[in-house]
Parts: sequence; C-alpha cells; structure tokens
Amino acid sequence: MRILNFLSLLLLLSSCIIVKKKYTDSSFDELYRPQVHFSPPENWMNDPNGMVYLNNKYHLFYQYYPDSTVWGPMHWGHAISKDLIHWQNQKIALYPDSLGYIFSGSAVVDKNNTSGFGKDDKVPLIAIFTHHDPKGEKAGTNDYQNQSLAYSLDEGTTWTKYAGNPVLKNPGIKDFRDPKVMWFEAGKKWIMTLATLDRITFYSSKDLKSWEKESEFGQNFGAHGGVWECPDLFYLKHNNENIWVLLVSINPGGPNGGSATQYFTGQFDGKNFVPYQTDTRWIDYGPDNYAGVTWSNSGERKIFLGWMSNWSYANVVPTEKWRSAMTLPRDLAIEKIEEKYFVTSHLVPELQTISKTATGQKNIPASDYDLTSKIGKLSGPVKLEMSASQIENFKITFYNLLGDKLILGYDKVTNNYYIDRTVAGKVDFEKRFAAKHTAARISKNANLQLTMVLDNSSIELFADNGLSVMTEIFFSAQPLNSIRIQSPDNFLINSLKLTPLESIRR
Ligand code: FRU
Repeated sequence: MRILNFLSLLLLLSSCIIVKKKYTDSSFDELYRPQVHFSPPENWMNDPNGMVYLNNKYHLFYQYYPDSTVWGPMHWGHAISKDLIHWQNQKIALYPDSLGYIFSGSAVVDKNNTSGFGKDDKVPLIAIFTHHDPKGEKAGTNDYQNQSLAYSLDEGTTWTKYAGNPVLKNPGIKDFRDPKVMWFEAGKKWIMTLATLDRITFYSSKDLKSWEKESEFGQNFGAHGGVWECPDLFYLKHNNENIWVLLVSINPGGPNGGSATQYFTGQFDGKNFVPYQTDTRWIDYGPDNYAGVTWSNSGERKIFLGWMSNWSYANVVPTEKWRSAMTLPRDLAIEKIEEKYFVTSHLVPELQTISKTATGQKNIPASDYDLTSKIGKLSGPVKLEMSASQIENFKITFYNLLGDKLILGYDKVTNNYYIDRTVAGKVDFEKRFAAKHTAARISKNANLQLTMVLDNSSIELFADNGLSVMTEIFFSAQPLNSIRIQSPDNFLINSLKLTPLESIRR
C-alpha cells in the first residue's frame, strides 16, 4: 500500500513537472495555436516587415510588442526560415528609441554599397522604417511619422541605427508611413513607395539617405474607406511583359469590413505609376489578410505574406499568450482575362516539405458526401483540393462534435464564394466578428478548382487558380476535424484530394 502511495506521488510529481514544462517552453500546443503558420512565441504581433531573402534564408521581421498581448510601443521582431514554412524566432531586431516606435517598413540588400554602410566587403542589409513619435502624436502635431534607416553587417542579427535619422522628414502629413523600398535597375536608383494618408507618394534616392519626391498616385483611384497603409511596388512577368503591381492596404474599408489589401496593375517608369484598371480589386477578399507585402531580393519570384488578422478585433481575439499569426506565404502571378490583368495567389511549393501522404476520391456526388465517414477524422492541419468540370451551388462544412461549424461555399445566383464563421466557435469578443463573408468569382471558366488550407484557427481559400482568395480566422473550442460536402444541385466532384500537413512545431 505504502509503495503504491509512493508511486502515485511520484507519478503526480512527474506530471506536474511535465505540465509546468508545457507552459514554460512555449510548446505551442495551446488551443487555437496555428500548427503550420508563423506565430510569435508570445505576445503581440502585427504587420510583416523587412521581408528579405539573403544567403538562402528568408528573413521575416514583424511589428512586435514584447510586453503584452495587445498593441503597444512597436519593435521589430525577427524570424528566419530556409523554406518559408519552418521558422526560427530570433532576438528582437529593432527597439523603440528617442525618435519613437519602430513602425512598419522594408529591408534591402545594398549589393553595391550605395549607402556606404558596408565595411570590409560586408554587404549591408538595410532596414527602412517609420519612426513614430508618440510624444508628437500626443501633442497633436502633424509630423510625428518620419522615415529612418538601420543597417546590419551580420545578416540581420545586430543592427545599427543611422546617426542621420530620419532620412525622410514629414512635410506635415499625419499618416506618412510604411516605406517599401526597391532597386529600380533601369534608372539605377532606389524607389520608396510610401503611404501618405489617402494616396501613395513615390520617392527616389541614389544612396538611401537623401530622398526626392517623384510623384503621387491614387487620390482618385481604388477604395478610400480608410487610411492607406503598407504599400508595395514590384513587377510580375507575364508573357515577357513586366506588369507592375501596387499593393495598398486600407483600414477600414475592406470588402468585408475593416482591414484589407487592394491592388492596382499598371506601368511604372521610375517616376509615375499609371494604372491599367479603374475598378477596385483585392488581393484577398477575406477579413484576415492585412498589411501583406512581398520579399525583396528574391529575383523575379514574388512571395507575399500578410498578417492574419483585422484591426476591427485584433486586440481582443481570445488567444492568451500570443496574438496573431501570419498567412501562409503565397507566390504571386498574373492572369489575363478579357484584356484585364489580375493578380493571382498560390501556395508556395515549399508546402511540400510538410505534406504527408494524400488521399484522393474521384467522381463523387456533391449532393451529400461525408468525407469523414470515408477517411476518418482529421488529426491536424490539412490541405484540401477539389475540382469539378462544372460550377454549381455547394457548401463544405468543417465541423467538430461540439457543434462548431465553419461553412465555405459558392452561390451561383450572386456568383460569390463565401465563408461563414457565425457558428464556428467563440465569437462574443467583438460584435463584428460573427459573419458570413463573400468574394466575387472572377474566373470565367466553366470548371471549378479550389485549394483550401485548414489549420487550428484559420482557413485559406484559393479559388480558380488563386483568382478569388479568402483568409479567415476562427476560434472553435476543439479543432474542426470533420468535413462534409453538400449541394442542392446534382453534379459530380471529379476530384477531391486531402493532404494532411505536418505541424511545423514538432
Ligand atoms: C498597419 C499599421 C501600419 C503601421 C503599423 C503600426 O497595420 O497601422 O500602418 O506602421 O501598423 O504597428
């Protein structure tokens, strides 16, 4: 008896140790914690910043507040990946200083040492960011956001802020931020794309230190339901033609409320951006993809990543230790439809590194098909691909036994895809959260092709080869581990493929 008591005491003690360990080593097993998306080990994160590819490593910096799970004085957090999928969090790269918080910005590899920051043949990595002075903001001034530089000679591990900061002073525009810098080869100069209240202002520089205004764009184009933020300018090749793309995040005023990112296609000659389109288009129609930009120094491959949240509720989502994740990285491309250029988003092929053996079903009736009864419950994140030679009404319900349901579907009358998270789990933290969101179907194709990634608390939909995209977060009490497809129309799903994804946490 005594021995038994002793043994059970030992067992209890060891389980306490295990439980303790679980909570101290950020084991990422908490409810809602994404298993295939980047999220900070703890505390608050928003926009991706300074994304740059250097010496076979993808660097991701991010808006970070290390002292709380709500937004506060901004730092740049830092993470590195060799494959865009597995991330290793690093120590904080940039701290607030006497000029203010470190707001969003970009990073470039200054190969020709135009800045002069390089030393002993070391190529400088240069961060260009907004210094946001909270004192100026409080005092009601209108020039508290200025652009500054920091450089690193050891691949982003340590940073030195430039003594001559700020390098681009505010001319009296309250919202004057989020510089994205690129090398414009044809003019042998750097171009800074800056969000300036309700438009974009382009600046140029030979050395990253002194900047000249080139032009403005957008006062009369696109969506203007909120302030313009976090722009990006780059080109994508399409049949040997360079199609320039300008991304502009806006908050509020997104197609489904709150924050979202619109894009413009056009031409850029080193001075002016001239749009091809007059309509408003969104890189992602879902509510949870904001402030996304592309990696620099990745050649002609343009890889996009966004912050998977929305300012309407980002500060109050029910995660406890950490707040917010990034979207999965996406390759961007151009598709031409009836003389118009559209930007398409595609899961990066590197997702293969965590793809387990897929199961496929062929020619199944869409009327009512419970995938779970065929292949069992999901045991983690999955990629689901579905195709049909015709497009009809359908819905896919992702559910659990507790009654949480996330419904994704297509409505033929409105020609919209939709995601309904009204009963997908916890919604009471913010009244705008529980909703059904829609995305216009852009494709004119007769056939249907969908790719979805379901993680613990997010879904990403890429419809019609990435033309209509939706990203949504949700907070179900247990993972949604069952899938059912239903349709009032009589048609066949030609192929349904489910690929389980390995957690990047293990
Ligand atoms: C966008 C944004 C940026 C700003 C940063 C502050 O989400 O508002 O405009 O630089 O977040 O954290």
